[in-house]
Amino acid sequence: MPGRGEDPGAFTALEQALRAFGRSYRGRGQDDAGDVSGATRGRFVTFEGGEGAGKSTQISRLARRLTALGRDALLTREPGGSSGAEIVRHVLLSGAARAFGSDAEAMLFAAARIDHVDRLIRPALEAGRWVLCDRFADSTRVYQGTGGTDPGLIDALERIALEGLKPDLTLIIDLPVEIGLARAAVRRGAAETDRFEADHVEIHERRRQAFLAIAAAEPERCAVIDGTATPDAVEAAVWAAVRGRFPELASALGPPH
Ligand code: TYD
Repeated sequence: MPGRGEDPGAFTALEQALRAFGRSYRGRGQDDAGDVSGATRGRFVTFEGGEGAGKSTQISRLARRLTALGRDALLTREPGGSSGAEIVRHVLLSGAARAFGSDAEAMLFAAARIDHVDRLIRPALEAGRWVLCDRFADSTRVYQGTGGTDPGLIDALERIALEGLKPDLTLIIDLPVEIGLARAAVRRGAAETDRFEADHVEIHERRRQAFLAIAAAEPERCAVIDGTATPDAVEAAVWAAVRGRFPELASALGPPH
């Protein structure tokens, strides 16, 4: 672990992040706030998958389709999505928290998630909006879970951060690790890899299998989409899954295309 004087910038950011966590943690977990309910509740869709899966392209395309049908779609991402969470994002992706271990990183992802859920996701769902989120709690299960964090700690952090909130649909975009990493390298260009993308290929393979295990365990919530297909074909598969999960969209639709 670096000494305090070695990287003061990283420590300041980490300290800010931990203070944000402390503030948002207070009073949580005593009651389960429950999922946002009621007929006017919006719909919560998350996108998950390994590096270079094409999530950001597909999430934008889904937002466009929903908007064309008159739905109010909010596009967001994790870690980040709200101002407090963006500070934590920087700490995590720069690798500043890596030396503290996988459990500390899991706590920081949870800290970012609390801010994001409280300030953006829950209010948007209560206002009847569609929330499309690029990564969410399954990424903690997969990345920190395969990184050695105990499932019990992950469950506890999830209870605190989500307070009963659950995605209505999770689209897991699946593709072989080598293809995803090659795509991510092209997208990144000359920029450095982030802390998680830089991991060894075997670790990425474990993550892929962990996403598939979540999909197998929760088939009513998750749909696995073949990410090796063309962007148009992936978009069509995503749309088919969304229509299947939300029959109310059918009334706003012509024949499938
Ligand atoms: P990002 O630049 O958003 O990449 P991607 O396009 O792959 O989504 O980086 C987010 C990284 O953080 C990604 O490598 C996955 C990782 N991550 C976790 O390890 N745990 C989490 O809970 C979340 C949300 C992301």
